Parts: sequence; C-alpha cells; structure tokens
Amino acid sequence: MWILIQITAAFKLYMIGLRVLLYQLFHRPFTAPALPEQSGKVAIVTGGAKGLGYEIAKQLTGLGMHVIIASRDEKQGRAAVKRLCEESCKAQVEFEFLDLASLDSVRQFVRSFENRKLPLHTLINNAGIMLVPEGKSEDGFELHFAVNFLGHFLLTRLLLSALRSSGTSEKRTRIINICSSAHYGVDSELQHLHCMQCYSPHAAYSRSKLAQVLFTSHLQQELDSGGLAVTVNSVDPGLVDTDLYRNMSTATWLLQRPAARLIFRTPSQAADAVVFSAVSPELEGVGGCYLHEGRRVRSSAASYDLELQARLWRSSCGMLGLPASVAPLTL
Ligand SMILES: NC(=O)c1ccc[n+]([C@@H]2O[C@H](COP(=O)([O-])OP(=O)(O)OC[C@H]3O[C@@H](n4cnc5c(N)ncnc54)[C@H](OP(=O)(O)O)[C@@H]3O)[C@@H](O)[C@H]2O)c1
Repeated sequence: MWILIQITAAFKLYMIGLRVLLYQLFHRPFTAPALPEQSGKVAIVTGGAKGLGYEIAKQLTGLGMHVIIASRDEKQGRAAVKRLCEESCKAQVEFEFLDLASLDSVRQFVRSFENRKLPLHTLINNAGIMLVPEGKSEDGFELHFAVNFLGHFLLTRLLLSALRSSGTSEKRTRIINICSSAHYGVDSELQHLHCMQCYSPHAAYSRSKLAQVLFTSHLQQELDSGGLAVTVNSVDPGLVDTDLYRNMSTATWLLQRPAARLIFRTPSQAADAVVFSAVSPELEGVGGCYLHEGRRVRSSAASYDLELQARLWRSSCGMLGLPASVAPLTL
C-alpha cells in the first residue's frame, strides 16, 4: 500500500512536469513589456536570496522599488543584498530574517516591519521547499504545508493592514502567491492537505501548492467583501532551473539536468512574468486568478470548489488562532 501511494504520487507529479516541459519546448518564454517606475514603493519578497526570488527582487529594485528580502539564511540574504547593490548603486534593498517554518518567526518579522512604519505595495510569497524528507515544523505541521502555505497565510494576514493602507481604489496593492502546476495532481480532501499519514513527499508538495491556490481565491473574496484595495493572484512560474529540485533522487536528478539546462526557464525569464503580474497596469484590479506567463489560465477543478476554499480558510484561521474576518489584526 505504502509503495503504491509513493509511486502514484510521484508518477502524477512527473506527468504534470512532462506536460509543462512539452509546453515550454514549443513556446517562447514570456517577455514583459516596459513596466512603469515604482520609486517610493515597497515590496517584500520571501525567499528572495536565491533562485526565482532573487531575480524577482533584482527586477523590482531595477524598477526603483525598495525591496525587503525575507530569508531564513542570513549569510545568503546579506550576500544577495551586496550583489544587488554592486550591480546598481541606486538599488534600495535590504535583508530581514524570516523562517516560514516558525510561526513565531513570521510574527517577529511582521512586528519589526510594522515598527518601521513603512508602506507596503507588493508582497511576493515566493519561498518554497519541494520533496523534503518527512518532518514537522516547529509548530508541529508537515513541512511543505507549513512553509509553502501556512507560514505565508499568517504572513499575509498580518501584513494586510499595511497593504490595505498603502492601496487606493485606482492603484491597489498586490499579493502574489507563487504556485505550481503540481497543484493539478491532487485530490480535494481537506483533511489530506496537511496529512502526515503515509507520507509522500510528492503528494505533500502538490497539496501545499493546491492549498495556496485555494487560499488565493478565498482571500480575494474576503478582500472584495471587506472593501480592501488589495488584489491577490496565484502565479505559476513554469519549470525553472533552480535549486528547488535538489531533493530529487539521484537518478531523477540526472535525468532532469539536461532538460533543465535546455528547456526549463531561467530564473530571470520566470521572474519577468512574476514581476509583470506584480506591477503591470494591465492587471490593475485583477484578482483571484491563476496566472501563467502573464495570462489568466484555469487552475485545477478542485481549486474552484468554494466550499473547500472556505473550509481551508476556516481551519487555517483556527490553527493560527486568527479571526475569520480580514479586519486589521494587531500582534
Ligand atoms: N523551480 C521551479 O521549477 C518551480 C516550479 C513551480 C513553482 N516553483 C515555486 O517557486 C518558488 C521559488 O522556488 P525556486 O525555484 O526559486 O527554488 P529555490 O532556489 O530553492 O528557492 C527557494 C527559496 O525559498 C527559501 N526558503 C525555503 N524554506 C524557507 C523557510 N522556511 N523560510 C524562509 N525561506 C525559505 C529558500 O531559502 P534557503 O536557501 O534557506 O532554503 C530559497 O531562498 C517556490 O515557491 C516554488 O515552489 C518553482
């Protein structure tokens, strides 16, 4: 039984990967049009010290934004800041410690951000882990669920008042959840979303990504009903050549390397589409969507299940001790 679950979950994920690979083989990467200057605006990029997050931070600083790289690796975070400052003396970028596997760390990060009384125009929930061995976060949650979804859920909820006060009905502030086509391969049973029984790393990653898509849709409904000038979208970056794949088995990794070099998007190409989604005037007011290479596409059927979205929202609020309403929260 255990082996069957492992094989099925891995097979589903690799078949989805193959479909995306074929798409990328026959389609050029997205090229963003010229984007407007963002001077005076502030962005937070989680996991911005390397991979896709680093390129997002680089492009946002290039547009004149003040970028806060939120990362759990201080050495890597400070090196990323140094590199960005060396590349452009005008870059306004800094490192702030954030470990999404610790709810205390998320609260601490928000506290220190709030103390600075900065506005917040863009939140990019980018940090992620994939195929890590079975483990629990400091707070007892399955690791993919904790880092990819729950930590970002708390971060977003706590930053909503900064986002809300920095937006206007003409220029809404934006939240981008970096999702993945992996979410297409999982069922929609809520109790399975953070399940530790019969652990499969492939299923755990896919479920955490489905949770992010469900979260995006429900959060947009809450923002709309609360009248907040904030939008939230899921952005699927496609297959990108980064360290995310480091936990694959050696055999799979060896098979993946040539394809990654030839067909995967580079982090910079994938960041073009993310940054477009984060600042493009064309997407002003667009929220609750699943975006791929700058276009709205359909996410999985399960992700449109309103009841499932609402149940995940309520149970996440319950796990975190948060009220279900998006009224401003204080720490
Ligand atoms: N690469 C792809 O093909 C692909 C496809 C679809 C979706 N995505 C998504 O894209 C996002 C970026 O991934 P990537 O490809 O750029 O991978 P990556 O190079 O491994 O970067 C992931 C980033 O997340 C950070 N991170 C991991 N755990 C964290 C934690 N507990 N607290 C704070 N930061 C943490 C990592 O920091 P450390 O260096 O300290 O681990 C790293 O900076 C992820 O959400 C991923 O799921 C990627």
